[in-house]
Amino acid sequence: MEPSSTPHTLSLHLEDEDATVALAQQLAPLLCGQHPATITSGSGGRLHLRGELGAGKTALVRALLRAAGVTGRIKSPSYALLESYNVSNLYFYHFDFYRFSDAREWLDAGFRELMHEAAIVLIEWPEKAGELLPPPDLDILLEYSGSSRHAHLSAYSDKGRLWLTQLTPPHRP
Ligand SMILES: Nc1ncnc2c1ncn2[C@@H]1O[C@H](COP(=O)(O)OP(=O)(O)O)[C@@H](O)[C@H]1O
Ligand SMILES: [Mg+2]
Repeated sequence: MEPSSTPHTLSLHLEDEDATVALAQQLAPLLCGQHPATITSGSGGRLHLRGELGAGKTALVRALLRAAGVTGRIKSPSYALLESYNVSNLYFYHFDFYRFSDAREWLDAGFRELMHEAAIVLIEWPEKAGELLPPPDLDILLEYSGSSRHAHLSAYSDKGRLWLTQLTPPHRP
């Protein structure tokens, strides 16, 4: 990963899926409030994942959930819209709005109520929910780069900016 950073954005080259997993492993303790930098902000946060089909949104979320201690099967929520997980006092909500068509679906399902402060909310295809979603703490856009990927991270809150400052590129051999 070669970082080119400004305070609110970070672009990374993710050579292979291992690099995506490494990024997810760095993000997990930040979102879970288990990183020293989050001692005052605590757990919880909202992550948006954008990019074409196959760009690696689910792969990143899956690795993040694994790193956070989720042990069972981690399904893509592309049909169910939402898969949720609980690890001790942490609550994870993984959405995929790809098939989302009607704004009322969102309101009817009461999803908004899940957006409590300490929840960890991971949303694929947030753009399909239009204006209904508040800005995330961190937005990750994944793009194809040959057989690799590029990740463009943008922070929209103090929490997101804090996370960005804590990400370190992996050591090169
Ligand atoms: N950094 C990467 N470089 C190359 N391939 C990757 C990388 N990250 C993930 N992949 C692969 O890309 C695919 C991503 O699929 P998936 O996560 O389901 O995409 P999405 O949820 O964005 O539609 C998987 O086959 C995964 O192994
Ligand atoms: Mg997906």
